[in-house]
Amino acid sequence: MNSTHRFASPFAERFDLRVPVVQAPMAGGPTSPAMVAAVSNAGALGFLAAAPFTAEKLASEVAAIRALTRRPFGVNLFVLEPSVPDDATVRRALSAIDPLRAELGLPPGQPLARYAPDFREQLDMLIELRVPVVSFTFGLISAQDVERLHAAGSYVIGTATHTAEGVAWRDIGADAIAAQGSEAGAHRGTFIGRFEDALVGTMALVPQLVDATGLPVLAAGGIMDGRGIVAALALGAQAAQMGTAFLTCAESAIPADWKTRVRTLPDTATEVTRAITGRHARGIRNPLMQQLSEQPGNVAPYPVQNALTQELRQSANRANNGDYLSLWSGQAAPLGRKRKEGLAAAELVEQLHAEWREAAANITALAR
Ligand SMILES: Cc1cc2nc3c(=O)[nH]c(=O)nc-3n(C[C@H](O)[C@H](O)[C@H](O)COP(=O)(O)O)c2cc1C
Repeated sequence: MNSTHRFASPFAERFDLRVPVVQAPMAGGPTSPAMVAAVSNAGALGFLAAAPFTAEKLASEVAAIRALTRRPFGVNLFVLEPSVPDDATVRRALSAIDPLRAELGLPPGQPLARYAPDFREQLDMLIELRVPVVSFTFGLISAQDVERLHAAGSYVIGTATHTAEGVAWRDIGADAIAAQGSEAGAHRGTFIGRFEDALVGTMALVPQLVDATGLPVLAAGGIMDGRGIVAALALGAQAAQMGTAFLTCAESAIPADWKTRVRTLPDTATEVTRAITGRHARGIRNPLMQQLSEQPGNVAPYPVQNALTQELRQSANRANNGDYLSLWSGQAAPLGRKRKEGLAAAELVEQLHAEWREAAANITALAR
């Protein structure tokens, strides 16, 4: 950006952001290299969700982003221990999943050789790739790993859903906190305590994390337009991390039916459930969520349930059948309806830029 630009926050200044917006990493198709690069080129921070990728795929996606932009971008991983489920857990989970597979014409599911990519291999690759910004959710890495990332020149962001998690990230040397309020779409990042206790709303969470950690905080959850960005800044956040707002953009590689439901359903259409992946996540209610929720005792822990429902969801993906997809979405999705269908991510960043400046001017006028 140009040298006369005034930045909204030190975080925005550090990454030369014209708009104090981070496009949230979204696993499962939305954050394609085209999306990440378009957002970064437009002056916000694009973020690749790399959790489902092998180390090789992670490297090729980062190369694809680098071919499209010279500006800063981020890469996100899930912090996971290797998972070796017992046979009975897998069989129980499949007993609930198989009838749904049959509805889509798929044969009964089988135990898998592996349930998630190896986190240590992903992390080593991330360090080798020397990406400008990295973020983590679902757990905490070690202080040594933070040091390795810093030595590779990466800025480290940890996700927190309550203050104890934010303080834990600060104590191991993280540079910033992604504050994930309960409004947020998709998986809860909670890694300390019960998930039920960690459904703190963005309005309550952001200022508490600002005060408790003293680190730059990114506000995530329920932010869809300029008003939300200004509210986040007023609470002390240095940028808004927005997922659902970008989910329906042209570059988001998800089925059209998912986008349509995000754009048409009301604010009460989402629910937090662990039935689909074994980890609590907010998504739009559909037959997949409802039917798997009927047998809570058969739901395997993450990432086993996630892997066991994957083929079913991939099949639904190909058929553009939202009844059997994991329709992750935040509670504020209806606020996106006012935007043109199939908006390019760069256009969304442009609109957010105009909106937040107008909203900020309105607030300033009130205070005069
Ligand atoms: C479809 C979808 C997938 C997501 N995947 C990830 C992910 O891979 N990693 C992550 O840290 N957060 C992920 N999130 C959560 C976002 O980082 C962020 O907390 C959330 O989108 C903010 O709330 P909003 O959706 O109301 O904007 C995802 C969100 C959505 C909607």
